[in-house]
Amino acid sequence: MKTMKIMVALGFAALAGCGSTATQQQEPSLKEALKDKFHIGAALNVDYIWERDPKADELIKYQFDAIVAENCMKSMFLQPSEGEFFWDDADRFVEFGEANGMWITGHCLVWHSQAPAWFFFDENGDDVSREVLIERMRNHIHTVVGRYKGRIKGWDVVNEAILEDGSWRQSKFYTIIGKDFVDLAFRFAHEADPDAELYYNDYNEWHPGKVATIVDMVQRFKAEGIRIDAVGMQGHFGMDYPSIEEFRAAIDAYAGAGVKVMVTELDMSALPRPQRGAGGANIADTVAYKAAMNPYTAGLPEEVAAAWDKRMGEFFRLFIDNSDKVTRVTFWGVTDETSWKNDFPVRGRTDYALPFDRDYRAKPVVKEIVAMGNR
Ligand code: G3I
Repeated sequence: MKTMKIMVALGFAALAGCGSTATQQQEPSLKEALKDKFHIGAALNVDYIWERDPKADELIKYQFDAIVAENCMKSMFLQPSEGEFFWDDADRFVEFGEANGMWITGHCLVWHSQAPAWFFFDENGDDVSREVLIERMRNHIHTVVGRYKGRIKGWDVVNEAILEDGSWRQSKFYTIIGKDFVDLAFRFAHEADPDAELYYNDYNEWHPGKVATIVDMVQRFKAEGIRIDAVGMQGHFGMDYPSIEEFRAAIDAYAGAGVKVMVTELDMSALPRPQRGAGGANIADTVAYKAAMNPYTAGLPEEVAAAWDKRMGEFFRLFIDNSDKVTRVTFWGVTDETSWKNDFPVRGRTDYALPFDRDYRAKPVVKEIVAMGNR
């Protein structure tokens, strides 16, 4: 009898989902709960794209209706040397999205980072002329957007061109071409696929200086007939920044300029933010400093996990309340294990930035978001 009771109890435990993603999937999904609000997505690394992480892929297909490529569509991977394109990962990414009926976003056409070195230089190592760089940009955009015409629904056309104070980043695109590299990039993307949505994507887009410059740019694009559909707000949050109010004000400002808002790279670090330098020159201090920066290697304490869930829930409350303006929310990854936050801004830490833990289990906030969506 006693054995029987234990077996029944174990059976219920399994049904209740102790660690099983299959069981979790009996819970309503994010995409089902949010279907009348906005697309809910995840960034896919190459393992997810090639379905080499079955538990993560199961989650992706069950929970999300939108995907973006975390790395494989960046120019250094797509065109590592001039005129030589590598399509395998990107093709497979698009096939994955199509096979699962997902909203597919391309990331990203023009970015100062993860661009191949050849892009900006001539055979002597000198900067190319404005004309040459425009032509290289045109060719890259036409080739990539053209290949996926009608299949990729929207593109992050330009990524991270504006700094927090509202000034322009002194990237090679900016210094060689000038500010109109952004206009040209959007024009080229529109030529290559007139039906694709086009986005400007950036981080810390709640800083008032950045908001002002982006709003000006959007308004000028509208006045000059350059297509732009949305501002992608990356949303790499910490536990103490930004405030909900700062983020709300930025959503309102972009919507007021006449575009939609997408929360494109959502994650939230649970770890302390390092100050610059440990101070002093004692190597032991540095080691202590490093350990203090990585406090949760054995797991996230309950109170920190609860604070993380609460804050993430508050952001989803904001997104849902603004679902007339917000058309997509995409997490930058799926599980804590593979988040880029484990290596940024300090390498080799154990962070807890995403909605699914290292055992592929949904954090409590997932259930809460589902409930909010259904309300
Ligand atoms: O591809 C190489 C591989 O050949 C090599 O073996 C391996 C060894 O480290 O590195 C691989 O490249 C890594 C690449 O991701 C692909 O995995 C780079 O080292 C690594 O730095 C790179 O990091 C990516 C980062 O962009 C690059 O800037 C992150 O995964 C990715 O999450 C991150 O994403 C960016 C968005 O595109 C734009 N917004 C900010 C966001 C976070 O930085």
